[in-house]
Amino acid sequence: MKLIAGTLLLALTPLASAHDRVGDADRACITCHGEQAKQALTSVHAGAGIGCITCHGGNAGEVEAEKAHGDSLRTLSSARASVESCGSCHSDVNQMSRFGLRTDQLTLYWTSQHGARLALERDETVATCTSCHGSHAVVEADDPLSPVHPRRQPETCGQCHSDAERMVAHGLPADQEESFRTSVHGAALLDKAHPAAPSCTSCHGSHGALPPRATEVETTCGQCHSVVQQYYERSPHAASAGAKVPVACAACHGDHGTLAPTTDMFLQPVEGGCIACHSEEGDRGLSVARTLDADVRMLQATIAEADGAIAAAAERGLFLGIERSYLEEARGLLVRARTMTHTLDPDALDDVLNRGQAMVDQTMESLATKHRVFRDRKIFTAIFFAVSVAFAIALTMHARELAGRWRRAGGAP
Ligand code: HEC
Ligand code: HEC
Ligand code: HEC
Ligand code: HEC
Ligand code: HEC
Ligand code: HEC
Ligand code: HEC
Ligand code: HEC
Ligand code: HEC
Repeated sequence: MKLIAGTLLLALTPLASAHDRVGDADRACITCHGEQAKQALTSVHAGAGIGCITCHGGNAGEVEAEKAHGDSLRTLSSARASVESCGSCHSDVNQMSRFGLRTDQLTLYWTSQHGARLALERDETVATCTSCHGSHAVVEADDPLSPVHPRRQPETCGQCHSDAERMVAHGLPADQEESFRTSVHGAALLDKAHPAAPSCTSCHGSHGALPPRATEVETTCGQCHSVVQQYYERSPHAASAGAKVPVACAACHGDHGTLAPTTDMFLQPVEGGCIACHSEEGDRGLSVARTLDADVRMLQATIAEADGAIAAAAERGLFLGIERSYLEEARGLLVRARTMTHTLDPDALDDVLNRGQAMVDQTMESLATKHRVFRDRKIFTAIFFAVSVAFAIALTMHARELAGRWRRAGGAP
């Protein structure tokens, strides 16, 4: 079907030329190159009528290898030839506009570290179009089967970047894939299928792949963590605040192995923690770390206390919807306070911390009221019960007395 559709499409498009007809022109190639043909037939290119001869040249209708290959066969076996072949169509606005595709991949590629090394050093161990997309089974980039689909990138980029031998030759570490897989981001992408989780290219770009420079890391992370970034920009670590050597997100959180941060980062000897750089008494960084640590922990502790009080009250069978919602609000404010620690300005947190504390106080007050009402109701119930019992006893006694009188008066038994 695809072949026929391809043939029809070709007949109508400028891509068409007499020997471009898939199935027709390529029949001879296919008889000898079954493996490539099988892959090519499933590709997005087959659907557009792009066949063996379109990319490789050669002669249609010849059954002998030598004649079929002819003088015009392009093997595309060098990295440069294959990049130029893919790029020849993909940078052509006339061909691409019909499919709504961008035409900047080749230009961007030459600006990337991959492309630059290929162009300047003739280094063929870098990524080319086909190392990321494949050569014959090329499918849409957002197809889950595509090697460039976000969830498949760790293995696609990892083919080379986890290959220590290849990387050592370039003076690069080979741990990015492994670190990424164990990070919060890797878990979000691969285990939780989080719709906003980053893949390798979210931080590096795809065609223009470059590592973000130290001064760009914050904007790379800020694409997704924009609120944190705004607070960070106000801190003495940020370039915008005049820091001589900016201490960017990755200095504290790492680049590939980002873990869920905790308050321990302020004063405990954890990786990327404040004391890694501010350990001397008298260092303002250390005193700020102490204040932030104490502030955040204080609210954390009172929330935990209120949480315990709610759990205890729930065991008494109290209905606690409103108290839970107050405490939820306090938790939200704690999250906000943790985010605001990125300003490294303890004063900036005051308002949020106070509001958080106020919500905890409100939770506790409301709980106390519920307990009081519960106790009052219990007392009331006890009194009501006692009165009812006394009344019942009185009634019974009165009934007996009436019955006795009736008998004594000689009534029927
Ligand atoms: C009769 C069988 C036969 C036919 C028909 C045939 N080939 Fe080949 N092709 C071969 C063989 C065998 C090789 C490997 C030996 C060689 O390099 O010549 C090969 C190699 C190739 C290579 C790889 C060359 C390299 O050095 O990496 C390409 C590309 C290729 N063929 C494309 C085509 C195309 C396109 C067609 C149709 C126009 C075609 N072939 C038709 C048998 C065939
Ligand atoms: C969209 C362009 C494109 C199309 C269509 C295409 N090829 Fe290729 N082919 C390439 C590139 C590029 C390479 C170089 C290998 C690489 O970079 O991975 C290649 C490599 C080859 C090779 C060398 C062995 C290999 O698999 O790497 C053969 C043989 C071959 N192609 C045959 C074919 C045949 C037969 C068809 C038609 C069924 C075909 N190609 C269709 C782009 C194409
Ligand atoms: C380092 C891996 C890598 C290399 C090298 C690469 N691509 Fe891509 N390509 C991707 C990724 C990832 C996407 C998905 C969209 C994105 O992230 O830009 C993509 C998307 C595409 C698309 C879909 C349209 C678009 O731009 O979103 C086309 C077409 C494409 N690439 C063609 C090419 C061509 C042509 C080359 C060689 C000049 C090439 N690619 C080199 C990884 C790569
Ligand atoms: C003869 C022109 C031509 C050549 C050569 C060519 N392509 Fe394409 N490519 C197209 C056209 C046309 C489409 C759109 C097909 C469609 O959407 O139906 C396409 C689609 C794609 C897509 C899917 C884009 C999307 O929708 O996400 C990718 C990826 C891609 N090509 C990569 C490559 C790579 C890699 C090579 C080299 C091996 C290559 N192309 C060579 C014309 C070409
Ligand atoms: C075919 C192998 C290969 C594949 C696949 C590959 N790369 Fe690379 N990449 C390299 C090589 C080799 C270098 C080193 C170039 C140099 O010497 O500067 C490199 C360099 C880089 C750099 C620059 C590192 C630096 O500090 O100089 C980044 C960033 C990068 N690659 C990201 C990616 C991403 C993201 C992917 C997947 C979308 C990917 N690469 C896929 C081989 C590959
Ligand atoms: C959350 C953003 C992010 C993600 C996701 C990410 N990187 Fe990086 N990457 C960085 C940062 C930041 C650097 C360091 C840049 C610097 O030091 O200037 C870096 C550096 C690199 C380098 C250069 C060598 C090094 O380790 O310093 C390579 C190669 C690389 N990354 C590949 C990858 C690959 C492959 C993936 C996917 C498995 C990936 N990256 C995912 C942010 C990211
Ligand atoms: C493409 C979007 C994206 C980019 C870019 C990105 N992140 Fe994330 N990040 C996320 C998502 C989504 C989560 C949440 C994962 C979850 O909830 O399971 C997350 C989680 C985190 C967490 C853990 C938060 C927590 O409460 O546990 C930290 C720390 C983090 N990212 C730091 C960074 C840093 C540093 C960078 C840049 C080097 C960065 N992120 C780049 C999307 C992104
Ligand atoms: C990777 C090392 C590093 C880490 C980790 C680090 N800092 Fe810093 N910090 C610096 C450097 C360097 C400066 C000086 C910036 C400049 O002005 O160039 C600085 C400056 C400061 C300042 C301003 C000091 C002054 O004299 O005004 C404060 C406050 C501060 N840091 C607090 C913190 C806190 C709190 C943490 C942990 C959350 C932290 N830092 C983590 C390196 C670091
Ligand atoms: C000086 C060290 C430092 C720098 C620089 C830094 N962070 Fe943090 N980050 C922390 C600490 C410490 C926490 C934990 C606070 C807590 O749990 O009380 C944290 C928490 C987080 C969280 C989880 C809490 C939340 O607010 O959602 C995210 C996400 C995050 N950081 C992202 C970033 C991003 C993005 C950047 C760069 C714009 C950045 N961080 C820069 C130290 C840093």
